[in-house]
Amino acid sequence: MEEKEQPSGGLHFVGKKDELIKAQRSFRTLEGRDILIIYHEGVFYAIDCYCYHAGGMLQNGDIEDINGKLCIICPKHKYKITLAEGEGLYRARNPMENPPILRWYSKGVKQRVHTVTETNGEVFVKLTTTPFWIDSDYYQGEKGKVERANA
Ligand code: FES
Repeated sequence: MEEKEQPSGGLHFVGKKDELIKAQRSFRTLEGRDILIIYHEGVFYAIDCYCYHAGGMLQNGDIEDINGKLCIICPKHKYKITLAEGEGLYRARNPMENPPILRWYSKGVKQRVHTVTETNGEVFVKLTTTPFWIDSDYYQGEKGKVERANA
């Protein structure tokens, strides 16, 4: 789809609300970055489309509530990523506990997420400008693209 950019504010038009709802998941390239726009249970999310672990395409990942957070499950190796924050979640036992109980833990933000807004039936995405490295950045770069192509 042709990108219609707003003159200011870094907002990118990504589609009509109705169309994005119908599609549920839509792939877009904004400023050279490949992202996924997801509509789930009345909310839009925008997230880097290649998994931070090994570049798996998240587009067909299932969405599940894990520990009270909606997560997309990467189809490749089943990593769990929260849709709202891009946190990597994992389950483990703390050996210091007696008995050790399986719990969900966070690895912190691993997948870059972006801001979605809607105005008069049109949906816009603003890419995050967080200055520090987030693991999913790797698969948006040249090296990561080569690695994905050879996987
Ligand atoms: Fe996503 Fe490995 S590439 S879990």
